Amino acid sequence: MTSFSFASAQAPLPPSVLEELECDIRQQRGSGIRKERGSGQSLLELPFSASEFEAIRAGAEQDLRRLLGLTSEHHVLFLQGGATALFSLVPMNLLREGESADYIETGLWSRRALEAASAWGAIRAAAAGDGRSLPRPQTWRMSSDSVYCHVTSNETAEGLQFRSFPDLGGVPLVADMTADFLTRPIPLDPFGLIYASAQKNIGIAGMTIVVIHEDLLGRAGKGVPAPFNFALQAAARSKVNTPPTFAIAVAGKMLRWLSDAGGLDAAEARAVRRSASLYSLIDQDDFYSCPAAVQDRSRISIRFHLSEASLEAAFETEAEATGLLHLRGHPSVGGFRASLYNSAPQQAVDALAAFMDDFRRRKG
Ligand SMILES: Cc1ncc(COP(=O)(O)O)c(C=O)c1O
Repeated sequence: MTSFSFASAQAPLPPSVLEELECDIRQQRGSGIRKERGSGQSLLELPFSASEFEAIRAGAEQDLRRLLGLTSEHHVLFLQGGATALFSLVPMNLLREGESADYIETGLWSRRALEAASAWGAIRAAAAGDGRSLPRPQTWRMSSDSVYCHVTSNETAEGLQFRSFPDLGGVPLVADMTADFLTRPIPLDPFGLIYASAQKNIGIAGMTIVVIHEDLLGRAGKGVPAPFNFALQAAARSKVNTPPTFAIAVAGKMLRWLSDAGGLDAAEARAVRRSASLYSLIDQDDFYSCPAAVQDRSRISIRFHLSEASLEAAFETEAEATGLLHLRGHPSVGGFRASLYNSAPQQAVDALAAFMDDFRRRKG
């Protein structure tokens, strides 16, 4: 039976990327497998100081630069610690003594970012959503002395996603794009810093990408540990200490795969198509419902409830028996969600839609 994972925590990898990785991992001495990378070492054995690894890192950075249209004013960092570490590392690197920042509170993850940052500076919630819709930028109460304004581009628990981003003039946006990184083209001007854990849209856990504009570099105090100091990592090409070599290599393959699959315009078209087929099924009648306001619904985290809560257990059991895995919603909001990251095949969405339709016909 073919199975599909809709997990929020980790996306499936495209089959072609898995095949390449398998080949690169098995490239061991005496294994008889082609040694096309030169040294014959497995990808898992490469020292970060080797020229082979630098070629992999630089290739990944190049592809990312091309996809996003970055300029020489942008620096790309491959760090460890996940987006959760960035919740603290952002204020540690950007805020000097007595400085402040605004945060837009739109759900679980922006709240966590705000709470973590509060230990490192004067953090203010410039706007707060109701968990079902996003506060319009016109209503954000920005402070005049903010160093940056933090947004979470896609709230994975609530299923909300910013369609566009305001240019706040002198105040750069800092965005947690973990859930929708590289799923659409974005204008770079409003952003001073973008960060994303890799495991949802560009590979596996263990690596966090940071794109930072040079204007925000060099603000960290002496207390910031070197591996987490953005300016030091930018100068050392993310090799202040041993970087997450394998996660960077996987990201490199994902970035190539994304480029070959048509870049960000094509990624957005796929996301629109995937999400539209589920939302139209959910909206057909009252059997399923989506709590997110239509204009703010995420194209990545598709959240839905069954009107009959007593049917939830049967829905989950039958979905799993059909090979449709990890559909349970975040515990903070309940219900179900289908996470459709960059590598989600339309085939998975079609299988889920067919199951949901059939379940409704049988139980509705
Ligand atoms: C929007 C968002 N930000 C941050 C995180 C935390 O990422 P990590 O577990 O890699 O720290 C998640 C995890 O699901 C997320 O969805």
